[in-house]
Amino acid sequence: MVYDYLIGAFERKYAEMAVEQLSIEEGEIVLEVGFGTGHCLKRMAESVGEMGKVYGVDISSGMLEATRRRLDKAGLMDRVEHGAGMLQLYHMVITLSTLSL
Ligand SMILES: C[S@@+](CC[C@H](N)C(=O)[O-])C[C@H]1O[C@@H](n2cnc3c(N)ncnc32)[C@H](O)[C@@H]1O
Repeated sequence: MVYDYLIGAFERKYAEMAVEQLSIEEGEIVLEVGFGTGHCLKRMAESVGEMGKVYGVDISSGMLEATRRRLDKAGLMDRVEHGAGMLQLYHMVITLSTLSL
């Protein structure tokens, strides 16, 4: 995808550092908002292992397709639920409320 060549190459180093800082462990459940072409989503899916789960949302349906191809190629689709949509503040409030129960 053109995005990966133009912007992805520049961001890649920082994206890698960010994912590393999360220290994701096997079995964890992770959410990425704005997964782009799925580079970090794939790394997270590798980290959570077979018992974990990664959720992702991105406002762009084009990004959704690119990410689906990336995950499919890596055989990681079963660990990831991702969809096109816009994360809005009220979604965050509901999610955080649910997690705090
Ligand atoms: C810089 S890219 C993310 C790249 C990705 N984290 C990676 O390195 O693998 C930012 C993404 O956020 C998405 N985005 C921006 N605003 C959003 C929103 N309100 N809800 C969901 N996705 C959003 C854009 O469509 C874009 O794909």
